[in-house]
Amino acid sequence: MKPLFVGNWKLYKTPEEAAAMVIELSKRLPAHMNADIAIAPPYIDIPAVVAALKDSPVLIDVSAQNVFWEKEGAYTGEVSASMLVAAGCKYVIIGHSERRQYFGETDEILLKKLTIAITAGLIPILCVGETQAERDAGETFLVLDKQLVNGLKDLSSTFISDLVLAYEPVWAIGTGRTASSEQAQEVHVFIRKRMAEIYNSAFAQNIRILYGGSVKSENIVELMSMPDINGVLVGGASLTATSFSEIIAQGV
Ligand code: PGA
Repeated sequence: MKPLFVGNWKLYKTPEEAAAMVIELSKRLPAHMNADIAIAPPYIDIPAVVAALKDSPVLIDVSAQNVFWEKEGAYTGEVSASMLVAAGCKYVIIGHSERRQYFGETDEILLKKLTIAITAGLIPILCVGETQAERDAGETFLVLDKQLVNGLKDLSSTFISDLVLAYEPVWAIGTGRTASSEQAQEVHVFIRKRMAEIYNSAFAQNIRILYGGSVKSENIVELMSMPDINGVLVGGASLTATSFSEIIAQGV
């Protein structure tokens, strides 16, 4: 399966800094790679990043970090899925643990976001993951199961055929503590198994499951050597062209 490398910039970089970084990244990557690459900058940077990548010899796609669940209306401060498509986004991250934790996003809200994103033509990257307390209590699989079942409730396999899942253990995000490749592989196998049970085995075999949480050049090779890890969602280490290009080059 073609791996996917996504850089999630969170709340970093002005439009000018963002454009300069992707130009630099594009220079550092070989033109033909057997990998899909995407950058998820803050909303305000999207037009600058799309413009900067227009003539890039390397295909780097753009992802949003979030989306609103309604098409349009009186929703001050929000951005719609069709606006993101019009701005040039291909992907959208949905349900990142920071959205769940700091902005109260529930599985029910995420289901609405997934639905509108797919309807508008975006490829959603749905994030799931347990906290340290949940892992310690032996509830990892229970938590993931709930996030998957409720987040994807009643969506058909045809509707979500392009869906990407990202396993991001909350305790590994921004902490420097990565899940070991065995821990990540174990969870990815569980997620794939649940996809086979809820949908079917062909769907489960084809779905890309990314790992995220303190991914860096030191652990990328080991993580990507796991059969059920189909790419990575990188936060901090995607902020510089040097570090993100190193991760891609080693992980591909
Ligand atoms: P990190 O973030 O790589 O900085 O841990 C990952 C993420 O939040 O997607």
